[in-house]
Amino acid sequence: MHIAMKTVLISIAMLFLSGAATSFCAETCSTATCHAAIGAFKNLHQPVTDGDCSSCHQQTVKEHPLKGGKSFGLTAKGADLCKICHDEFGKKKLVHAPVKDGECLACHKPHGANGRFLLDDSEDQTKLCLGCHDSAPFNKKYVHGPVATGSCTVCHDPHQSDTKALLKGASRELCLSCHADFAQKMQTATIVHPPVKKESCTSCHDPHGSAWPNMLKQGMPDLCTGCHKEIGKKIKNAKVPHKPVIEGKLCSNCHSAHFSKDKGLLVADDEKSVCLGCHNSAKIGTPPLANIKKDMEGKKHLHGPIQKGHCGGCHDPHGSDFPRILTGNYPSDFYVSYKEENYSLCLRCHDKNIVRFAETTIYTKFRNGSKNLHYVHVNNSKGRSCRACHEAHASDGPKLFSAEGTKFGEWRVRSRFQITATGGSCAPGCHRRYSYDRVKPVDLAFPNKK
Ligand code: HEC
Ligand code: HEC
Ligand code: HEC
Ligand code: HEC
Ligand code: HEC
Ligand code: HEC
Ligand code: HEC
Ligand code: HEC
Ligand code: HEC
Ligand code: HEC
Ligand code: HEC
Ligand code: HEC
Ligand code: HEC
Repeated sequence: MHIAMKTVLISIAMLFLSGAATSFCAETCSTATCHAAIGAFKNLHQPVTDGDCSSCHQQTVKEHPLKGGKSFGLTAKGADLCKICHDEFGKKKLVHAPVKDGECLACHKPHGANGRFLLDDSEDQTKLCLGCHDSAPFNKKYVHGPVATGSCTVCHDPHQSDTKALLKGASRELCLSCHADFAQKMQTATIVHPPVKKESCTSCHDPHGSAWPNMLKQGMPDLCTGCHKEIGKKIKNAKVPHKPVIEGKLCSNCHSAHFSKDKGLLVADDEKSVCLGCHNSAKIGTPPLANIKKDMEGKKHLHGPIQKGHCGGCHDPHGSDFPRILTGNYPSDFYVSYKEENYSLCLRCHDKNIVRFAETTIYTKFRNGSKNLHYVHVNNSKGRSCRACHEAHASDGPKLFSAEGTKFGEWRVRSRFQITATGGSCAPGCHRRYSYDRVKPVDLAFPNKK
């Protein structure tokens, strides 16, 4: 009480001495009895700390305090008041509407506040910003970390910016500034998905939140098929769909959305590893499919594409119109009346001439002299399908001949195939051992033994 009275007296004395009204308020207005609330904030505005009330307030009526009236007015209106000491905003391309309108006090408290920057809460700005903005986009099921904590201004400048949406920097760089491990991995990746490389991350992600995990703008697979229309069509129309494309993690079962070590944006180093990541048990599929991983394990001979890590030359991972999501026809029966298109799968890669001509000296090694034994076996009205002799994936025997034999109903037809430098022989369930020789043709008219 006494100290307060003293300061008032000193101030009045100073006022008379200096004759300047400006210092009238210094350290006198906010006292224990008068305007105590002004000094009670955790963080005071510098001029308030300095007791410089008069830079913002000027006395308009002599009497103070004035019962039922105001004896003080502001020295300037709106942003002009702040401009006395602070640089003006508006030099950048975009100025936030309330800043443009001079409504500094829509966000800031003039005297002091419990948060920093003269804000009620400088950490969680949700209440502040959503006081004006629609809260719906921020109340989604999956919310971005910094949005959940109300740190709007880590990305947005509250006043002005040269970047759209008042961003503090180019949107992509902004994302990568926090997601540093992502940025680092992307730098070392060989393949970067074009929209990730060139476009803003917000072409797929909502920066705030969304109804889908990872704040995706759309659910999968729509997000992907929105750009990859052909794949979308295929998935919709495929007579034989592939389960992982339409279930569970969908496209992400096999693809990374961002980058990869090799082409195809696959989640593993090669296609084979991706496929065998699932086809590694006899429990996959209804009825269960063969355990492909086990079927290939320890096999001496892998089919060409598989040696190179590919399954895709024969199977369309996204679904197809052929059984077993094959990329062409492959008869499921042992005997098939010959038509070239029945074997469109194999003949995508192999020369159709191997089964086309009765006589040949170049197109196949499976011949006796010039007699084409592929033709003999395959190219007739009760032709044998390739599966009678060859495995599709892998084998113990040469030329993809299975040592256990090919399925013939419940029985396995063992071919007992043996290969020589100029021919070979086999003794399958179909006939006794026959030999063939490309250089010195064997007389096939009579069953021969070798
Ligand atoms: C940076 C400018 C600024 C300074 C410095 C400042 N004020 Fe204010 N003050 C304002 C503004 C602006 C308002 C009007 C607030 C409103 O309309 O919401 C205000 C309102 C007031 C009011 C009336 C409403 C209230 O909040 O109680 C009082 C009393 C007041 N100030 C006292 C003071 C005192 C005492 C000081 C010095 C310790 C001071 N002001 C320093 C800007 C300032
Ligand atoms: C009399 C001069 C003066 C006026 C008028 C003034 N300020 Fe300040 N303001 C200051 C000073 C000095 C600082 C401290 C600057 C620093 O620390 O760099 C400051 C700091 C601030 C800060 C940062 C506070 C913090 O916690 O870092 C904000 C926000 C601010 N002022 C807003 C305003 C607004 C809004 C107005 C208008 C209503 C205004 N100021 C008017 C002098 C003024
Ligand atoms: C939409 C709310 C909002 C409005 C309107 C607003 N500010 Fe701010 N201001 C903030 C926030 C939030 C911060 C804290 C800075 C941050 O988090 O990046 C801030 C910080 C400041 C600072 C201190 C840091 C800096 O950027 O220099 C000053 C000074 C300031 N504002 C002055 C003003 C003035 C003057 C006006 C009116 C012309 C104004 N503000 C209008 C929200 C606002
Ligand atoms: C006083 C009301 C008010 C407050 C508080 C406010 N805004 Fe705004 N904001 C507006 C208005 C009005 C617009 C213009 C809307 C429009 O153009 O449709 C706007 C526009 C924006 C835009 C879009 C700018 C553009 O050009 O695309 C962003 C981003 C934004 N505000 C962020 C914020 C953030 C972050 C906060 C909290 C720090 C905040 N706002 C607080 C009123 C406010
Ligand atoms: C991680 C960065 C980030 C955070 C944090 C963030 N935003 Fe944004 N915000 C953006 C980006 C990026 C855009 C531009 C969206 C676009 O380009 O499609 C945007 C756009 C906006 C817009 C413009 C309208 C719109 O939706 O496009 C408003 C308003 C907005 N944000 C408000 C806020 C508010 C309020 C908060 C805090 C609750 C916040 N933002 C937090 C990055 C962020
Ligand atoms: C201020 C730092 C910051 C910025 C800037 C930022 N993020 Fe994040 N982001 C985070 C944090 C923190 C998490 C949560 C991490 C966690 O849960 O492990 C996160 C999580 C994510 C997630 C995973 C969400 C989930 O559900 O697990 C995605 C996707 C994401 N951010 C994308 C973006 C995009 C796109 C941008 C640019 C628009 C961006 N981030 C900018 C900090 C940031
Ligand atoms: C083509 C769409 C697309 C683009 C563009 C994109 N993302 Fe993603 N992002 C996804 C999908 C889909 C997921 C979900 C994870 C998955 O299925 O692989 C995801 C997940 C994430 C995650 C969380 C999981 C993780 O991998 O760490 C982060 C963080 C992330 N994205 C950041 C970014 C950033 C940063 C950018 C821009 C450089 C970006 N994304 C661009 C589609 C995209
Ligand atoms: C904004 C458009 C866009 C979106 C969304 C998009 N992509 Fe792409 N994607 C491209 C472009 C452009 C290419 C390069 C041209 C091409 O191969 O078609 C590409 C290429 C690819 C490739 C081939 C890469 C290679 O090395 O051959 C794969 C795989 C792929 N995208 C998967 C996805 C997946 C999965 C999603 C959903 C998470 C997705 N894309 C979403 C535009 C998009
Ligand atoms: C079962 C695994 C698997 C799933 C699930 C899958 N893909 Fe693929 N995808 C592949 C493989 C394998 C390739 C071939 C990669 C290569 O070229 O090496 C491929 C290639 C692609 C390509 C580039 C070549 C082309 O055919 O255009 C695109 C684009 C693509 N996928 C998009 C998608 C989209 C979109 C989804 C979800 C709807 C999806 N994929 C789901 C395995 C898959
Ligand atoms: C995420 C697990 C997963 C991955 C990865 C996967 N598959 Fe499959 N695949 C399945 C399931 C489950 C089925 C059984 C569907 C059923 O029975 O309806 C299946 C079925 C198949 C079929 C039989 C289709 C039919 O309907 O007859 C083939 C062939 C096949 N997958 C090949 C592949 C190839 C090739 C790849 C790699 C490009 C691959 N799969 C990757 C889960 C997977
Ligand atoms: C050279 C062509 C070719 C390649 C390469 C190939 N497949 Fe096959 N795959 C086939 C054929 C043909 C069938 C049908 C076999 C049948 O009908 O008996 C088949 C059948 C399957 C089946 C169904 C098995 C069952 O129980 O009927 C699966 C699963 C499969 N393949 C997975 C794979 C995987 C995984 C890869 C890569 C490691 C792969 N395939 C590579 C041709 C191929
Ligand atoms: C995607 C391409 C492709 C398809 C489709 C394909 N193959 Fe092959 N095949 C190869 C490659 C590559 C080789 C190894 C190089 C070579 O010997 O020509 C090979 C080799 C062979 C061999 C010789 C193996 C050896 O040890 O010399 C036979 C037999 C064979 N394939 C049969 C078939 C049958 C039967 C089909 C149909 C079910 C088929 N291929 C489908 C690419 C394919
Ligand atoms: C009666 C058993 C048999 C049938 C059926 C059969 N092949 Fe062969 N095939 C062989 C033998 C034996 C060889 C090995 C010839 C040699 O190198 O001495 C062979 C070799 C091959 C080769 C390696 C290149 C060549 O011609 O020497 C290919 C490719 C091939 N077969 C594809 C096929 C295709 C495709 C089919 C079905 C249209 C098929 N085979 C049907 C027995 C058969």
